[in-house]
Amino acid sequence: MHIRFDGRVALVTGAAQGIGQAIALRLKAAGASVVAADLDRDRLAAFAADHSVSTLALDIGDRQACHGAVAEAVRVHGRLDILVNAAGGVRGQVGGPVSNVTEEGWRAIFAANVDGAMWLSQAAAEPMQSGGFGRIVNIASGAGLRPSLTGIQAYTAAKHALVGLTKQLSQDLGPMGITCNAVAPGFVRSNPTTERQWQSYGPEGQARLVQSIHTRRLGAAEDIANAVLFLASEQAAWISGQILSVDGGRS
Ligand SMILES: NC(=O)c1ccc[n+]([C@@H]2O[C@H](COP(=O)([O-])OP(=O)(O)OC[C@H]3O[C@@H](n4cnc5c(N)ncnc54)[C@H](O)[C@@H]3O)[C@@H](O)[C@H]2O)c1
Repeated sequence: MHIRFDGRVALVTGAAQGIGQAIALRLKAAGASVVAADLDRDRLAAFAADHSVSTLALDIGDRQACHGAVAEAVRVHGRLDILVNAAGGVRGQVGGPVSNVTEEGWRAIFAANVDGAMWLSQAAAEPMQSGGFGRIVNIASGAGLRPSLTGIQAYTAAKHALVGLTKQLSQDLGPMGITCNAVAPGFVRSNPTTERQWQSYGPEGQARLVQSIHTRRLGAAEDIANAVLFLASEQAAWISGQILSVDGGRS
């Protein structure tokens, strides 16, 4: 199967690093014009300098900023075909007892993992419909399907919410020619936070984790990007409302 995105415009959030950046690069290599969006202005600028992508710095928890970002992408590129909601993660938090959860921490994780996907999808629906092609791919997690390895209550709850939103958007936007799916990655050493998480397991914990994966290896950001590219393609036109675990198989 030959997947190309020539003439397509893709907006990818969380593109300043990690999985989002790998997705942005793969889409670009396959011919798409890519708008890389993130909260992290400095990393985004470094990414744009190394690769020719346009960038948008925004907090996706802000509805107005999300609508502005989509309008700007359409103004610059003339259309919007693909939205990949990859921003999210644990926002610097670590797991702890339920009694330690703060409102601020809870809200920050929901803003990054759920609110942004909602506001950007809402804004993207009209240009996708008028352009005659629409693909929304949300990056959920194994934590959207079961308790999280991180032990962070807000993260598990937010990713479960994103899974629900994916199914609802599929139903609501499908008649407009827009599919909505999610990829649920397994553990990927994609950034300093996941690197710390990996180190905290120690040699025995690390071996146990790898042993619990059917393919007996950790995934890489590119493994996640491959699945996203398929779901964003023409060829995935009749797949919607699905949550695809990309985790090497888990026992
Ligand atoms: N790495 C893993 O093991 C793993 C596993 C399952 C799911 N995921 C999910 O995959 C996605 C990418 O993961 P990653 O490991 O590359 O994460 P990451 O933390 O490296 O990247 C997330 C990006 O999102 C951006 N971001 C966070 N909040 C934002 C906001 N409010 N507005 C705009 N940008 C914001 C950050 O600046 C960062 O660049 C996340 O949604 C994460 O939850 C990761």
